[in-house]
Amino acid sequence: MTFDYGAFSFESKEDLLERSREFWNPGKTDFWVESGVPLVIDRREEYFIYDMSGKRLIDVHLNGGTYNLGHRNAEVVTAVTQAMAHFDIGNHHFPSLARTALAEALVRTAPPGLTKVVYGSGGGEAIDIAIKTARHSTQKRKIVSIVKAYHGHTGLAVGTGDDRFSKLFLADRPEEFPHVPFNDLAAMEEALHGRDVAAVIMETIPATYGFPLPDAGYLEGVKALCERYDALYIADEVQTGLMRTGELWAISKHGFSPDIMVTGKGISGGMYPISAVLVAEHAAGWLTEDGFGHISTFGGAELGCIAALKALEICNRPETRSMVHYISDLVGRGLREIQADHPDWFVGIRQDGVVMGLEFAHPQGAKFVMRHLFENGVWAIFSTLDPRVLQFKPGILLRPELCEELLDRTEVAIRKARAEARQGGRAGERVPA
Ligand SMILES: Cc1ncc(COP(=O)(O)O)c(C=O)c1O
Repeated sequence: MTFDYGAFSFESKEDLLERSREFWNPGKTDFWVESGVPLVIDRREEYFIYDMSGKRLIDVHLNGGTYNLGHRNAEVVTAVTQAMAHFDIGNHHFPSLARTALAEALVRTAPPGLTKVVYGSGGGEAIDIAIKTARHSTQKRKIVSIVKAYHGHTGLAVGTGDDRFSKLFLADRPEEFPHVPFNDLAAMEEALHGRDVAAVIMETIPATYGFPLPDAGYLEGVKALCERYDALYIADEVQTGLMRTGELWAISKHGFSPDIMVTGKGISGGMYPISAVLVAEHAAGWLTEDGFGHISTFGGAELGCIAALKALEICNRPETRSMVHYISDLVGRGLREIQADHPDWFVGIRQDGVVMGLEFAHPQGAKFVMRHLFENGVWAIFSTLDPRVLQFKPGILLRPELCEELLDRTEVAIRKARAEARQGGRAGERVPA
C-alpha cells in the first residue's frame, strides 16, 4: 500500500521509518521502535491520533498540552483558515493588529500585575526571553531552578535543566544556573541569600519530572524568599496553564502573582506555533529602553496570534472550566479504583485537575505501562526525568464516553504491565534508556 499525501509519498511504514532514520533523526526513530512504540502519527482528530498502520489511539500525551483542545480543534481551524484570507506571519518589526489584540487578551486574563507581553515561537524561546528580562531588570546573572526542571532546550533555557541535555552541547553553566531540590525551602534560601540571583524559575508542577505536586506553602515560600533576597519569580506555565488545573493559570491557585509568566504549547491551539511571556511593569524596562532587545521573526506570528486568541477564548469559557472539573473527578476516581486493585504496582497518583502523574513500583515502570497502553489504544508518555512516573494528560474537552473508554483501556494496560514487570520484562527486549 502506498501512502500518497500529494506533496510526498511513502511506499510503506517501513519505507517511512527507513527514510526517517536516514534523513531525519536516527536516534529518535530507533528509540521508539525499540521501545515498542513504533508510532508514526498520520490522521488526527479530536483526541484521537492514528498510526500509519491505521491503529487508533486516544491521546493523553497531547504533546505536553499542545492538543489541550484536541487535534485540529474545529473552532481553531476555522479561525486560522478564515484569517489566512487576510493575514500571514506579519512583520515582527511593526505594531500589529493580531499581536496587539492577543497581548491585550492575555493581560486581561493574567494574574494581576502582569502588564506587558513579549512573543516567541516556542516555549524554549519564551523561557530565554523571561531569563533575559529578569537579568536586564535586576542586572544580575544567576538563575535558580529545581533539580529535574525542564524549561526547554534553547540557549539559556537548557542551562536550567538536567545535565543530560546541557552537557551534550557543552552548555552546562553551574555557576550561572544553580539547581536546588524541589520542595526544599531551606535549599532555596541557601541559593538566594547571597542576593546575587536574578530570578528563580519554577514550573508550577514540574512536568518532565512526573508532576510531583508542590507541598502546601512551597511556591508561596519561594516567592517570599524571592522578595526577601531581591530575585524575581518566573512561573513556567507552559504545561500547567490554560485551564489544565481547573484555573486558567495554575499559579493563581497559590495566591500570588509571579513577576514573569511563560505560556506556550496549548496557546497555539495545536495549529500554529506561538509562545508568550507576560511581564510585570517593574521588570519590563527593556521594552522601553530598547524595544528591539529581543528579535524573533516568527515570534508572535499573526496567524499564531489568531490561533491563540481562539484557544484562550475557549479555555476561558465557564463550560470549559466545568468540563475540566468533571473530567478530573471522573478520571481521578477511575484511576483510584484501578490503583486499589494493584496497590503493590500502581503506587501513586499525583493529580491537580487534568494534570496527572501515575507512579509505578519499578525504576522504569512507566515505560512498561506506556508500551501496554500503546498496544491497547492509548498514547501516554513516561517522564524522561523520572521513568517510574507516567504522564497522563487528558484533554480539557474530553467527552465523558471517551473518559470511560480511556479508563477501561488503562486498567488493562496497567494489569498487563504489572504482570510483565513481575516477570522481569519481555524476554530479549531492551527496556529503553
Ligand atoms: C514546562 C515546559 N517549559 C518549557 C518547555 C519548552 O517548550 P518548547 O519545546 O516549545 O521549546 C517545555 C517543553 O516540553 C515544558 O514542558
